[in-house]
Amino acid sequence: MSAEPQVRIFASPEHLFHAAAERFCLIGSQAIRDRGRFTVALSGGSTPRGMHEELVRNFAEQLSWKDVFFFWSDERHVPPTEPDSNYRMANETLLSKLPIPTDHIFRVPAETPNAGAAAQAYEQTLRDFFRSGVRFPRFDLILLGMGPDGHTASLFPGTTALEEKQHWVVANWVEKFSTFRVTFTYPVLNHAANVVFLVSGADKAAMVGRALRDPAANLPCQGVKPLDGELMWFLDQGAAAKL
Ligand code: 6PG
Repeated sequence: MSAEPQVRIFASPEHLFHAAAERFCLIGSQAIRDRGRFTVALSGGSTPRGMHEELVRNFAEQLSWKDVFFFWSDERHVPPTEPDSNYRMANETLLSKLPIPTDHIFRVPAETPNAGAAAQAYEQTLRDFFRSGVRFPRFDLILLGMGPDGHTASLFPGTTALEEKQHWVVANWVEKFSTFRVTFTYPVLNHAANVVFLVSGADKAAMVGRALRDPAANLPCQGVKPLDGELMWFLDQGAAAKL
């Protein structure tokens, strides 16, 4: 039975990012204590930047960073040097600022000209890492955002990836951006032990209201329902204004 989303509302983006960093370290230290490692998939977009900076600023001593393994729940089809790269944002705001072994950072090979090949290669990376013959990997934590159209990761309304039931990672054509994105599929998102949405800003309030109050809205972010895990929405007051 999938978990009911737990919604936490914070007075400001700064409070949201601090609480998100705290949650990251709580889940991380428990995973390391229980399993010797913490597997986390970072989110793309701009919102996670605040949490990354807070982790570096106030939580650098809170986690054994040598036991953390980083992945991405989605990536833009651009080289890691591009401003649009989710890897680049995370590297600049988090990974390059903490004692994280480089072989613990598993980015999407998004410079690969063929997006399908990039997705396949990344799925193989996950299979090699989780290698226990599991049907789907179980991340300790997957971080997600929500777009103004209700998309999450790179699962956009009306796109083929929404229907994917077998693959762990796919290349998804996003008509409105005339580009492919590489994204985790719902089975991977819904096998996680913890999924945390970070959503900030009044421009997201209407969509947050629909996502959390209108089960019939059929938004991509509503397809995230961990089968045996915890689902949390961390919102600032702007994003929660319509709840
Ligand atoms: C991406 C993301 C995407 C993001 C939302 C919210 O690569 O863009 O993974 O799903 O989380 O678009 O983006 P913002 O945080 O920039 O509002």
